[in-house]
Amino acid sequence: MTYFEWDTSLDVNVQAMNEQHKTLIDLMNDLHTKNESGRDKQELIEAAEALIAYTQKHFEDEEQYMESIGYSGLESHKKLHETLLTELVSRVEAFSAGQDPKLGDEFTTFLKTWLATHIRGIDTKYGYGL
Ligand code: FEO
Repeated sequence: MTYFEWDTSLDVNVQAMNEQHKTLIDLMNDLHTKNESGRDKQELIEAAEALIAYTQKHFEDEEQYMESIGYSGLESHKKLHETLLTELVSRVEAFSAGQDPKLGDEFTTFLKTWLATHIRGIDTKYGYGL
């Protein structure tokens, strides 16, 4: 069973963004599965870096989309992206530089919060004109 599942509560009413969110969730699941199955730290770092890279792409694409529809919440949404990306990078850098062999529960909590509060609570606003 996969750890994170896309469901309709994450539907932002924009198909291209839903597809990108599903890819993000796939990358989160890949990282979580590798972490829980005791893979080498280097492999975990690579999976985390893949998540960072796709997150950057997704945020850029989503911001372009919001701009294309003249979404009034673009600037505040951009700031949230910046905060989220900074936190993700910071957590991965700390893990990479530290002694822990695997990511802790707080990292998983961070990913879950991302899904619950950002996609469900913020991204849905541009898709439903809120
Ligand atoms: Fe889909 Fe605002 O991130």
